[in-house]
Amino acid sequence: MATLSETAVIAALREVQDPDRGQDIVSLGLVQELHIHDAEVSFTLAFAGQSPATKAALHSSASRAVSQVPGVSRVSVKMGSAGPAARPQAAAAHQHASPPPADFIPEVKHTVAVSSGKGGVGKSTVAVNLALALKQSGAQVGLVDVDVYGPDVPLMMGAKGRPGMFDNKIIPVEAHGIKIMSIGLLVAEREALVWRGPMIHSAVQQFLRDVNWGPLDYLVFDMPPGTGDAQLSLSQVVPLSGVVMVTTPQDVALLDVRKALGMFRKLNVPILGIVENMSYFIAPDTGRRYPIFGEGGGQRVADEFGVPLLGQIPLEMETREGGDAGVPITVGRPDSAQALAFRKIAAAAAARVDAVSALKLPDIR
Ligand SMILES: Nc1ncnc2c1ncn2[C@@H]1O[C@H](COP(=O)(O)OP(=O)(O)OP(=O)(O)O)[C@@H](O)[C@H]1O
Ligand SMILES: [Mg+2]
Repeated sequence: MATLSETAVIAALREVQDPDRGQDIVSLGLVQELHIHDAEVSFTLAFAGQSPATKAALHSSASRAVSQVPGVSRVSVKMGSAGPAARPQAAAAHQHASPPPADFIPEVKHTVAVSSGKGGVGKSTVAVNLALALKQSGAQVGLVDVDVYGPDVPLMMGAKGRPGMFDNKIIPVEAHGIKIMSIGLLVAEREALVWRGPMIHSAVQQFLRDVNWGPLDYLVFDMPPGTGDAQLSLSQVVPLSGVVMVTTPQDVALLDVRKALGMFRKLNVPILGIVENMSYFIAPDTGRRYPIFGEGGGQRVADEFGVPLLGQIPLEMETREGGDAGVPITVGRPDSAQALAFRKIAAAAAARVDAVSALKLPDIR
């Protein structure tokens, strides 16, 4: 069998054109950290201002092109971003004038996305109570509802009124001491239901660039379920400190969660850990514990991905009632078992944020 040469791999990559710039990705300096080990090829696409749609398209065409080179058995492509110093002249000349992503929210220390593989597993409940528990630990916290199709955050937080404007910036609404932005606060109900990728991308950008968040320790994002445009947009608009993945213990939910975890890995977003929701039900009359959605799934998927299980939340009526009434359980009944579970999860997530940010290499920009 012929040994795999770097020349063959680079030749294949030269066939992949960036449609925005009309040049191939090698000439543009997008291909970096190319490693060839036996039949396995890995490299990073160091993007520099491409649209999310272009990034996704280039990611799949580059990995397809390399996988077709004879002798290649595995291709792994990371998405990264390039610092100007690392970029060749030709690419630099094509740069947009927009600021680097982190400059969107310079006063925000950490950005945490709450995501899930499938819908209805309790993402919004976790995002809201996680934000509140972080706040209770003394942090300044903001909460963004990225779920344009089902913006539940305003209702769950009991947020009333519309965001104001000052100095050409949107002033977020505040509820329970947390700054909130949601598409639900801006557009009429159901209007966003017809939105497509580019509109979602610009909404996500606007939530960051045009909102006066002020200094925050954490900005928490309640994501829509799955692996769609919002996930891609968010992870490309801001460098996320990490993602908290919510799942129920049963297997169908876990299948989806693996897919979602795989996507975040591919996007280079650190996985802070797994929150298992609806883990069990304690019958109030008998005190018996019922594993309604099965047992142990959260721990299994955490072990599989080598990330911590941040906590388990029981199925409990007051958690739902608190969400419906706009007074989440962490503020409505701070001494309840649920509230305690959320505070533990917040502490574990905060510790993980510190741990993963300490692991990151210094920014060379
Ligand atoms: N641990 C729990 N105990 C009881 N009810 C819960 C619990 N977690 C979530 N719920 C309820 O389940 C429903 C779905 O939860 P939630 O809206 O948080 O899920 P989601 O994943 O954000 O859903 P979507 O995908 O629609 O955005 C809500 O009515 C919520 O109050
Ligand atoms: Mg939700």
